[in-house]
Amino acid sequence: MRILLHRADGKTEPWIKDFTKFLPEAEFEIWHAGETSQPCDYAVVWSPPEAMLPELAQVKAIFNTGAGVDALLRFGDAIPRDVPIIRLGDAGMAVQMAEYVTYSVLRYFRRFDEYEAQARSGLWAPLPQHVKSDFPIGVLGMGVLGTRVLEALAPFGFPLRGWSRGEKRIPGVQCYHGGDGLDTFLRGSRVLVCMLPLTPETSNLVDRTNMGKLPAGAFIINVARGAHLAEPDLLSLIKSGHIAAATLDVFRNEPLPAQHPFWQEPRITITPHISALTLRRESVQQIAEKIRKLEKGEPVADIVDRNQGY
Ligand code: NAP
Ligand code: GLV
Repeated sequence: MRILLHRADGKTEPWIKDFTKFLPEAEFEIWHAGETSQPCDYAVVWSPPEAMLPELAQVKAIFNTGAGVDALLRFGDAIPRDVPIIRLGDAGMAVQMAEYVTYSVLRYFRRFDEYEAQARSGLWAPLPQHVKSDFPIGVLGMGVLGTRVLEALAPFGFPLRGWSRGEKRIPGVQCYHGGDGLDTFLRGSRVLVCMLPLTPETSNLVDRTNMGKLPAGAFIINVARGAHLAEPDLLSLIKSGHIAAATLDVFRNEPLPAQHPFWQEPRITITPHISALTLRRESVQQIAEKIRKLEKGEPVADIVDRNQGY
């Protein structure tokens, strides 16, 4: 069995080492621009370049070493529809998202962001506490990661709400779905957490109109994709005070350019796309198990629905 491997960072050796543990029979072909590779059975990629399409079109399945598949689906039918694209299902990412979002929510609820600023100015000044009933958390996207985040927030007693495409029932979470449910969902969410996949329907969803529906003094946490958020709209709503602050892990251009105005806005907390990192060992183990199943003709989880776009 031959596996075609592409890593944008060029660090393929540790991946091969881990694959050798879980799939010792596999041989590896490292993809390099301008070199023809031997035919392979499977491809394991993250954000592959367009030049890789001829090879990707010929494998039995493509494994995406992340949860979001927007970087693959942008190629449309240049990746033939009969080549399954298989995303990671959790593989250690859900707990990281739970940590990141819980930390960010508690930081705003307990006003630690304001205390950090006060401490830098040597100011000792207790602030009035936020009240939990006025602090509903709304999670856009209740998939693998969104549901884990809601589970992690539950013990703190915040009112919880979630929005998905199809109807869902999660105990303790007020669930909304579809275009009809979005308005009510937004109007009652003091903290908006974006955990959606990037698709034509969700692109730019967090724009001036939708952020304008959040209660005054709302908070934004975006851990999904930069293109979900209309960046200039966020800046102007922060300046007007409608949005109190934002924590952003993802951006339209990554790395965030040095001259981007977000760097100068103290109410925006920036992290470099680290909210849920791909854990190599867990990912390789999961991919190896799926390859074994495919080889036996058994069904595997996490195949992307090309029509839905995630
Ligand atoms: P998932 O399991 O596919 O869940 C996606 C959720 O979004 C589902 O609840 C789905 O609704 C909902 N959704 C999709 N399109 C929608 C629409 N048009 N309207 C309303 N709801 C919609 O995805 P996941 O594993 O939770 O991952 C979510 C995203 O997180 C990824 O796509 C990726 O972009 C991002 N991510 C970021 C990082 C990072 O480090 N920043 C790491 C990992 C993932 P249904 O339940 O009805 O299908
Ligand atoms: C990271 O952004 C992922 O989609 O896994």
